[in-house]
Amino acid sequence: MLSKPPGIEDIFPDRIGIRNLITDTARDVFRLYNYREIIIPVMEFTEVFVRGLGTDTDIVTKEMFTFEDRGGRSLTLRPEGTASVVRAYVENGEYNRLATCKLFYAGPMFRAERPQKGRLRQFNQFGAELFGGGDPYFDFEIIAMMDDIAKRTGIDDYTLLINSIGCPACRPDFVKALTEYYTGMKHLLCRDCASRLERNPLRLLDCKQDSCQPLKKDSPKITSFLCDGCRNHHESVKAYLSKSAAAFTEDHLLVRGLDYYTRTTFEFVATRLGGQNAFAAGGRYDNLVETFGGKPTPAVGFAAGIERMEILLEERPVPAAGIDLFLVHTGGKTLERAVSLCSMLRREGYSTDLDPGTKGFKSQFKKADREGALLAIVIGEDELSAGTCTVKDLKSGEQTTVRTDVIVGHIYNKLGR
Ligand code: HAM
Repeated sequence: MLSKPPGIEDIFPDRIGIRNLITDTARDVFRLYNYREIIIPVMEFTEVFVRGLGTDTDIVTKEMFTFEDRGGRSLTLRPEGTASVVRAYVENGEYNRLATCKLFYAGPMFRAERPQKGRLRQFNQFGAELFGGGDPYFDFEIIAMMDDIAKRTGIDDYTLLINSIGCPACRPDFVKALTEYYTGMKHLLCRDCASRLERNPLRLLDCKQDSCQPLKKDSPKITSFLCDGCRNHHESVKAYLSKSAAAFTEDHLLVRGLDYYTRTTFEFVATRLGGQNAFAAGGRYDNLVETFGGKPTPAVGFAAGIERMEILLEERPVPAAGIDLFLVHTGGKTLERAVSLCSMLRREGYSTDLDPGTKGFKSQFKKADREGALLAIVIGEDELSAGTCTVKDLKSGEQTTVRTDVIVGHIYNKLGR
């Protein structure tokens, strides 16, 4: 038997209901906020992610699926969407001329992480990116939009964490203070953190190792180092949020694992998710468009992990996945009548199925039940000669004989549509 690679899932029909609920809700909310869809490629030249996410990030150093094409060029399966959307935005002369450009996307992402519940190697995100919006209102808009999506899908037990990681003007002073603080306790750091101290000290705050947690307690706080511009921006984002339905908690340790962020960072976390507790995250990235060769363009965005949202919605009743009608026949001419009725009912908009291979009522009714049909429509020899069919409500068991030429009206009345 052939099997799938680790950390990669098949999604069978029983999970499709909840998946569609999440993506349909996200699409509805994106439309309400005037975001339009962009479809980005599944693979890019590796340089897009190296330059976009930062050479020292975990994603770039150890999690990318990278390979050479036949021409010897290095390609990578996208580990996230932001770098691709920025590349597309900069490359496209029409959209990058708009004063503000609001885009959303959805699809699979690939990271070679150690698989566990909620952490996959192929997972799905939806996300949004807004270009040309430096005002703190736009940070609020992005956060509020994700908050709306979470609430509308039925996720309510979560915390919204926010922080500011400053800008290239004020962050170096903070990083210096952080380096000094941690240098004094270098011998207590885990192996990864010892190397973070050399390469990217900000990331020390992101360490998940138990032994490193107590060390963070007295670490310098970025909020004491913010320049006036960053402080005012941060205060303003919080003021917008305070007036909205999105309750937030400040977390000065929230630095995020990607290098492109400036100022606002945020995460939606739920304790029910365990170790991988963020189901959506994002922030502002005012310098990335320029890094990709575009003109200076402030930007902010977020992405949500669809599989993690599914875990949070595990107990939510899923919209019924069954069909409307199942046609039951006894073979021969009754099957012919059933096939033509089936085509007609599908044209009328009813999901309809039949089984041509069996004549026994019992097995056909069993199948109708298995398919979650609401009504069975029976055509036996008697019905065929009388020009009727028997409509059976599979929940109540109620049966009615109906003339075939008025069957659509009858179904309409029964199903209310
Ligand atoms: P991220 O925090 O790397 O941010 O990913 C966003 C979300 O994707 C996470 O909160 C999580 O729910 C989900 N996720 C990430 N990795 C995995 C995985 N291995 N398995 C399952 N789910 C996962 C970004 O990707 C940024 N591009 C967000 C952003 C957009 N920032 C600005 N704009």
